[in-house]
Amino acid sequence: MNQPPSQPKSREQWGTRLGLILAMAANAVGLGNFLRFPVQCAGNGGGAFMIPYFIAFILLGIPLMWIEWGIGRFGGKYGHGTTPGMFHYLWKHPLAKYVGAIGLTIPFALVIYYNYIVSWTLAYSVFSLTGKYAGILDFRGMADFLAAYQGKISNNYFPNIMTAFLFFCITHFCMMWIISRGVSKGIERLAKTAMPLIFVFGAILVIRVLFLGTPDPALPENNIANGFGFIWNPDFSMLKESKVWLAATGQIFFTLSVGFGAIQTYASYLKPKDDVVLSGVATSTTNEFCEVILGGSIAIPVTVAFFGLAQTKTIAAGGAFDLGFFAMPIIFQKMFLGQVFGTIWFFLLFLAGVTSSVAMAQPIMAFLQEEFKTSRRVAAWIVGTMTFFFTLPVIFFLKHGFLNEIDFWIGTFGLVVFAILEVVLFIWVFGAANAWKEINSGADIRLPRFVLPLMKYVTLAYLVALMVFWFIQDGWGVLTMKGVSAADYPYIWFARFMLIGIAAFMVFLVYIAWRKPHVIQRRVPE
Ligand code: PHE
Repeated sequence: MNQPPSQPKSREQWGTRLGLILAMAANAVGLGNFLRFPVQCAGNGGGAFMIPYFIAFILLGIPLMWIEWGIGRFGGKYGHGTTPGMFHYLWKHPLAKYVGAIGLTIPFALVIYYNYIVSWTLAYSVFSLTGKYAGILDFRGMADFLAAYQGKISNNYFPNIMTAFLFFCITHFCMMWIISRGVSKGIERLAKTAMPLIFVFGAILVIRVLFLGTPDPALPENNIANGFGFIWNPDFSMLKESKVWLAATGQIFFTLSVGFGAIQTYASYLKPKDDVVLSGVATSTTNEFCEVILGGSIAIPVTVAFFGLAQTKTIAAGGAFDLGFFAMPIIFQKMFLGQVFGTIWFFLLFLAGVTSSVAMAQPIMAFLQEEFKTSRRVAAWIVGTMTFFFTLPVIFFLKHGFLNEIDFWIGTFGLVVFAILEVVLFIWVFGAANAWKEINSGADIRLPRFVLPLMKYVTLAYLVALMVFWFIQDGWGVLTMKGVSAADYPYIWFARFMLIGIAAFMVFLVYIAWRKPHVIQRRVPE
């Protein structure tokens, strides 16, 4: 058969099935599991939160996972690892590839702030080991420590932002180095080391937490049982609030990495007859184990045991960073061998984070390699340089709300919009029968028939409702900059222009790529 040079034969592939599952799981397991989940759960009704959470997992998470694996493997057959090429074949319309540019914009915009946060975890694991924050035992002190590290203020610990910048450079270099080594030698190998370590470190911390008992006998209320109670006791009255449903669904998206464009790229490295059904479920359940069992048993319970219920509520209301970077370092100092446990905690976060960062960087890597025929090395340099420069405003304008603004449009709202587009294109435009065949081909388990109407109607309706509610509840306020101080307006506008600029740039790249003969002449391999 005559095959154009860029046909799948020359594409990279996963080495082994286990490697693939671990890489996909490493993509999904990230800061979201260990920092975002506990805060969301505790702040939205504890055990009751798990009801909308599991409903979203079943009605949205798993179906989207199959859809994205299906779209990804389908695109891989045509030699396309990113959504512009995938959508091009799903919807034979000149606009399809430009819609697909969203699947380049989202992971690119995400990596520029996510990777910066990952670099804090590396820094804190070093600080814990070297005792840099030793002796800071109150909340205010820890908050100032982080603020000075981030360059928001200056104190004896950090006169300026240079330490943070240095750790960012190291983290960034690690990410670049891994992606420059390719899919099976870089990403898969990293996952094969990082995932087992995440399990072991997570287990060590959970066991330590379980044996904490009552750290201060003078305060018998502050014990580990109450800690688990706080995260798991259901407050059913919260289920009446739409905010809880939105939070649970948002968490499912974020933690499973669906709606980003990242799963599709990983799935494109499957062989055409590889199973996606069972592997998709295996990845999702591994992620849920890391989230609900490991993520749910560390940060919150330990904070209750040391700080008590009332203060934990305040900490959880302050968000994931308060919990991870203020409360946890103080707690570890109060424990025997705390320096070691602190290092393990932050290094666990680092491993979980860096394996997610590479997943966000890979779509644009694949795009450059496939559509522009760039070598892997050069692509890694281009991606590394671009993401480096785009991270600079995130680092230097952090205190002006720059990161939060991007996070809302990309990490909350954008995902839902993109997920709607993919469900429409795959199930409605490409056709339910085709999509079903695509997902089930090579499957190791049979999917019950009802999954198709579930995807076609329920998942889609759920997504649309979510988008509308989200816009009403948060989007409008963010759009009109409610609560933003006038002095920060220019920075918020800058963030928005940057996002629009990134999207426009991706559309432009797609436009250029589609003028190249090797891109448009690909045929379906038999
Ligand atoms: N799922 C990751 C987390 O929980 C985030 C992520 C999103 C990773 C998109 C890769 C791609 O932190």
